[in-house]
Amino acid sequence: MRLGKQIQSAHSGISLRASLTLLLGLLFFAYAVVSFVTPVQAAPVFQADKPANDFCLACHQEDGLDFKLGKDTIAATINPTQFGNSVHSDQSIMCVDCHTDISDYPHPKVKSKNARAFSFTLFVVCKQCHEDQFLKVQDSVHQRAIDGGNTNAAICTDCHNPHTQGRLTGKTSGELTPSARIHIPETCSKCHSGIYDAYKTSVHGNALTQENNTDVPTCIDCHGVHNIQKPTTVSFRNSTPFLCAKCHTDPAIMDKYGITTNVLNSYVADFHGTTVKLFEEEFPGQPTNKPVCTDCHGVHNISKVDNPKTGIALRENLLVKCQRCHPDATIDFPSAWMSHYEPSPEHYPIVYAVNLFYKFFIPAVLGGMIFFVLTDIFRRIVNRIKGVKHV
Ligand code: HEC
Ligand code: HEC
Ligand code: HEC
Ligand code: HEC
Ligand code: HEC
Ligand code: HEC
Ligand code: HEC
Ligand code: HEC
Ligand code: HEC
Repeated sequence: MRLGKQIQSAHSGISLRASLTLLLGLLFFAYAVVSFVTPVQAAPVFQADKPANDFCLACHQEDGLDFKLGKDTIAATINPTQFGNSVHSDQSIMCVDCHTDISDYPHPKVKSKNARAFSFTLFVVCKQCHEDQFLKVQDSVHQRAIDGGNTNAAICTDCHNPHTQGRLTGKTSGELTPSARIHIPETCSKCHSGIYDAYKTSVHGNALTQENNTDVPTCIDCHGVHNIQKPTTVSFRNSTPFLCAKCHTDPAIMDKYGITTNVLNSYVADFHGTTVKLFEEEFPGQPTNKPVCTDCHGVHNISKVDNPKTGIALRENLLVKCQRCHPDATIDFPSAWMSHYEPSPEHYPIVYAVNLFYKFFIPAVLGGMIFFVLTDIFRRIVNRIKGVKHV
């Protein structure tokens, strides 16, 4: 801190330590210039070649190096070890590949009025090398919030620190690595802390953050990453059953946890689901008044169904969900509904028995009649051939 304050007033009066740092930096730079530049090119000394990272780091590794923009203090210390471990350093991207306007010290004057404005002028450099992501972001809730004047919405550098960002995807696989996956919700939590807190205690979030389980959804499985769309729209709501079904109908994932994969089918077969499905086919994008998965299970706070406090296998907990749309429902109301179960001797034995009864009764009655008609026709034909006369 102390040193930072001193250096920050570099133009008025430089402290001894800062001067030494400056000198060290200049020496480094002179060395770099001497070793890379031929005498003919040497005239404007600092433009001759790209200054090496070591030149920049000679000053920037100094603890407590910071500067002021308006009321904001910005830390200008770059940890050389962390930078060395970053994907950009690994790919030999140099400081000046991104800081293209800086080649020596003092640096050009920063015109931004505060820290946020400073970030907005610098982050656009990402476009140079990551155009795909940059273009996707143009069609996102965050960009639309920014266009609407909300500069708190996320830009590249809020989610990726350019100096410390590690690899996110496997070099050859191109797939998100397990460790990157585990840390995604923390990235979003910087600004969506309320949702993160709910998620962390949910069946999904708890498995991810406490057990490093990567089978469960993180924020981006449900929302996407660079082109996140508004989740409170009708079409997002109507598509949630399929969002959940991606994993919940996949036995390769669900068998490990002993969770049934019949939840989508049983939901669609149920009167609520049938209506949502038919409705969506007839009037895509129209609001439906029937429940989707999240109306009963919650969104960011989904619990195990048998959780003794919050689980919806408990009738009291489920009733609250039903009452939103069936305000007169009483404690017995949820039993009018078969949940995700197909009737079986364990679940809904009476419905099961009635179904079973009809399964035999109807074929037996119809079969009997057909048998009777066929034998009667056979008898008549035989009689005709034999010339037997009816009396
Ligand atoms: C002699 C020490 C020194 C050297 C060498 C140095 N810096 Fe700085 N840098 C500072 C100080 C001190 C600040 C704080 C603001 C100021 O005084 O300009 C700063 C601020 C910055 C900033 C933020 C504010 C701004 O001006 O944009 C960036 C970015 C930066 N340096 C990048 C670099 C890069 C890249 C290099 C290598 C080419 C480098 N610095 C070399 C001392 C140095
Ligand atoms: C991949 C591009 C990239 C590389 C490589 C890079 N920077 Fe930066 N740097 C940025 C961006 C973007 C910002 C603005 C960050 C923000 O909004 O806070 C920044 C900000 C800074 C700042 C201002 C303080 C801060 O963190 O906001 C300093 C100082 C700085 N960089 C120095 C360096 C030095 C020294 C190196 C090399 C060791 C370096 N940078 C390498 C992109 C880069
Ligand atoms: C000068 C080119 C350059 C600039 C500018 C640049 N990057 Fe990179 N970045 C790279 C390269 C090269 C890689 C490694 C890509 C690879 O191997 O797939 C990389 C990797 C990444 C990764 C990890 C990708 C992965 O698949 O694991 C992220 C995240 C990233 N950059 C973000 C940024 C952000 C944010 C900015 C702007 C502050 C930025 N980069 C600016 C060149 C650049
Ligand atoms: C709201 C947070 C957020 C913002 C804003 C954001 N990213 Fe990402 N980015 C992520 C996450 C999380 C991942 C990892 C997910 C993945 O790779 O599927 C990622 C992955 C990446 C990757 C790895 C390759 C890929 O596409 O998966 C690159 C490169 C990248 N981002 C660059 C950028 C750039 C450049 C910007 C700005 C234009 C940006 N990101 C804005 C969160 C963000
Ligand atoms: C730097 C802060 C910041 C970060 C980091 C961030 N967001 Fe946001 N996000 C915002 C702001 C601000 C809004 C706009 C809120 C509004 O318009 O009401 C927003 C809006 C959203 C919305 C739309 C909300 C709505 O009601 O329409 C979603 C979804 C969202 N963010 C998801 C994410 C996810 C997922 C991540 C992590 C990958 C993330 N955000 C990271 C700041 C951030
Ligand atoms: C299992 C899927 C799923 C996961 C995981 C998930 N979300 Fe959501 N999210 C949704 C759904 C569905 C909605 C719409 C809820 C509604 O209709 O009110 C939503 C709504 C939102 C909203 C806007 C509405 C609000 O409540 O403010 C934001 C912001 C958001 N999510 C951020 C996040 C973040 C951050 C994470 C990770 C910590 C996350 N989500 C994880 C499915 C998910
Ligand atoms: C009308 C309310 C309601 C809707 C809609 C609903 N569920 Fe359920 N779900 C329940 C109840 C209640 C249980 C607990 C069943 C029990 O044990 O009685 C449950 C159980 C579950 C279970 C645990 C199954 C097991 O093997 O332990 C999963 C997973 C599940 N639901 C996912 C979903 C998905 C995915 C959807 C949307 C396709 C959905 N649910 C729609 C109420 C609902
Ligand atoms: C990326 C895959 C994935 C997605 C998407 C997903 N889930 Fe899950 N879900 C899981 C896994 C894996 C578990 C088991 C976690 C555990 O028990 O540790 C689980 C557990 C559950 C449980 C607890 C079942 C029990 O044991 O009682 C419920 C309820 C549930 N999910 C509902 C939903 C709903 C509703 C959605 C959509 C909004 C959804 N899930 C989306 C993977 C997913
Ligand atoms: C998001 C609103 C919503 C929620 C939540 C909801 N329902 Fe319904 N439910 C409806 C609508 C609308 C109908 C009328 C369906 C039709 O006529 O096609 C309906 C119909 C029914 C019916 C058929 C008999 C009747 O009254 O028309 C039963 C039984 C039922 N719901 C039980 C439940 C149970 C049990 C729960 C809680 C687990 C529940 N519902 C939660 C909206 C909802």
